[in-house]
Amino acid sequence: MKVLLTGANGMLGKNILAVSASHNHEFLSPTSTELNLLDGNAVRQYILKHKPDMVIHAAGIVGGIHANLAHPVKFLVENMQMGINILTASNALGVSRFLNISSSCMYPRDGINPLSEDMIFKGELDSANEGYALSKITSTRLCEYICKENSRRMYKTIIPCNLYGKFDKFEPKNSHMIPAVIRRVDEAKRNNQSIIEIWGDGEARREFLYAEDLAEFIFFALEKFESMPQNLNVGLGLDYSINEYYEAVARVVGYSGAFSHDLSKPVGVRQRLIDDTKLKSFGWNYKTSLEAGIKKTYDFYLGEYCND
Ligand SMILES: NC(=O)c1ccc[n+]([C@@H]2O[C@H](COP(=O)([O-])OP(=O)(O)OC[C@H]3O[C@@H](n4cnc5c(N)ncnc54)[C@H](OP(=O)(O)O)[C@@H]3O)[C@@H](O)[C@H]2O)c1
Repeated sequence: MKVLLTGANGMLGKNILAVSASHNHEFLSPTSTELNLLDGNAVRQYILKHKPDMVIHAAGIVGGIHANLAHPVKFLVENMQMGINILTASNALGVSRFLNISSSCMYPRDGINPLSEDMIFKGELDSANEGYALSKITSTRLCEYICKENSRRMYKTIIPCNLYGKFDKFEPKNSHMIPAVIRRVDEAKRNNQSIIEIWGDGEARREFLYAEDLAEFIFFALEKFESMPQNLNVGLGLDYSINEYYEAVARVVGYSGAFSHDLSKPVGVRQRLIDDTKLKSFGWNYKTSLEAGIKKTYDFYLGEYCND
């Protein structure tokens, strides 16, 4: 197939392109400068010119809690606009297959864990990233509506848990938890810092999938896209506490100091764990253990950020 991959320059996009080398599809992988998804006309022109058989939509405005809180307008408007532009142009111009990348952040804040796909839009969202979640719900529903209106369209959504891995962002202002912890622990080791402070009690639980595993899942799904459910969670189906993530990173980095807890700081949602029942029925399981994934991510960090 000729596949248009949006967000090819991002963490997930780069992992998809790396894995694509061992598969037999032709990839179009424009950066945001080459194809600005906020420009509906440019999106239509691009699809008309290149005529992809499938779109994988992995572009987005993505960030940790600080970025979401600081820029709620951008997270809502740009993600929503990009999703609507690429989905409506693909539909209007006859692209028959579309893989939409959503996020488990779109599940209700108080949803009962593990979160199954039928929980979408069934409760209040987490206020910290509500705009992002609304945009993800919109594109997920839009895929469903397009399929309802036109039975020749296969527009489906995967709902990954948190991701980490090679090509991650490590700058404190826009990093997610695992790269942020890797950086903090590495710097503490270099500076002989004996204590690292963790926000809250560290007992909140999070699920993180190694991004290369998700890229491999995507190629697995392309092979049997017809039988993939309309909306499908993709994750490990198990989670770890924040304290366990710090401990795993400390083991990989070789940090032997201690951790303390600042109980006055917010902890966020206590748990967000996906229900992997449908994923297992679809026949897929993750490959990379937490410690192996952290080791590969740490090696990437050292190579990219610490050339001393
Ligand atoms: N990271 C996670 O933990 C996580 C978890 C669940 C789901 N997801 C979803 O997975 C997808 C990929 O996430 P990621 O972590 O790979 O994000 P990322 O590293 O921030 O990459 C996002 C990409 O989107 C592109 N982009 C932004 N604005 C654009 C625009 N106006 N036009 C065209 N492209 C634009 C950027 O392209 P340029 O670099 O070319 O500017 C960037 O490379 C997103 O849909 C995200 O919601 C991520």
